[in-house]
Amino acid sequence: MDDIRNIVILTGAGISAESGIETFRAEDGLWEKHRIEDVATPDAFRRDPVLVQKFYDMRRAAVQTKEPNPAHHSLARLEHEWTGASGRSLLLVTQNVDDLHERAGVTNVVHMHGELLSAWCSACDMRARWSEHLSGDPPCPECGSKALRPDIVWFGEMPYRMDEIYDALSQSDLFVSIGTSGAVYPAAGFVQEARAQGARTLELNLEPSQGSHLFDETRLGPASELVPQWVDEVLRG
Ligand code: APR
Repeated sequence: MDDIRNIVILTGAGISAESGIETFRAEDGLWEKHRIEDVATPDAFRRDPVLVQKFYDMRRAAVQTKEPNPAHHSLARLEHEWTGASGRSLLLVTQNVDDLHERAGVTNVVHMHGELLSAWCSACDMRARWSEHLSGDPPCPECGSKALRPDIVWFGEMPYRMDEIYDALSQSDLFVSIGTSGAVYPAAGFVQEARAQGARTLELNLEPSQGSHLFDETRLGPASELVPQWVDEVLRG
């Protein structure tokens, strides 16, 4: 590990599964119960805003009853100890819309698919922390218009902070993907981007992801076990 200085970590729904938040593509997962085009696209929101708001209200309420698990906590420890030494960087990019990384103590999290606990006003572009329901159509605290929507990147919309992510990937020596099926781009392409820059690549997942063959190493098992073990290895040096 002596040659590693800059780490980029990508997390997906699998890291929060053991906290009781359902993943998307499992047999009993979220997308088995809801059609993506009914609840997670701009068209769906235009067609039936109440249904979409209620879907996210339910998920927003649920995450507030969940707690970070050992995988989240170990990444907080890694951020703290790794970035405490000079000349080292770590960027944690998550596809997850829960706040479990933050509640475990990670300070710099890029939520590329948005956040359940944030509301966005499509009239004045205000964003605010939001823990209540949006389905009652509350007014925007800034401009008063009734144009608040979940601050979530829907299918067909541009993920957030991509310049910052590609910049970090271009400097990375190690790219680690945790708990994601590798089914959704652009996140599924980060491994190739990191490899092209000469980074080592590691996958930690319950089962091989769609892009598993692209990683230098894949370790299979539950995140709550694999992630703390890997963090210990990195910090031992
Ligand atoms: N530990 C580690 N990995 C796990 C665990 C666990 N306990 N439980 C499940 N997994 C793995 C699964 O094997 C699967 O490969 O996590 C992955 C979850 O995959 P998805 O449900 O597809 O979730 P994700 O990859 O985060 O989805 C990406 O798709 O619909 C969108 O916007 C949504 O951000 C999401 C994106």
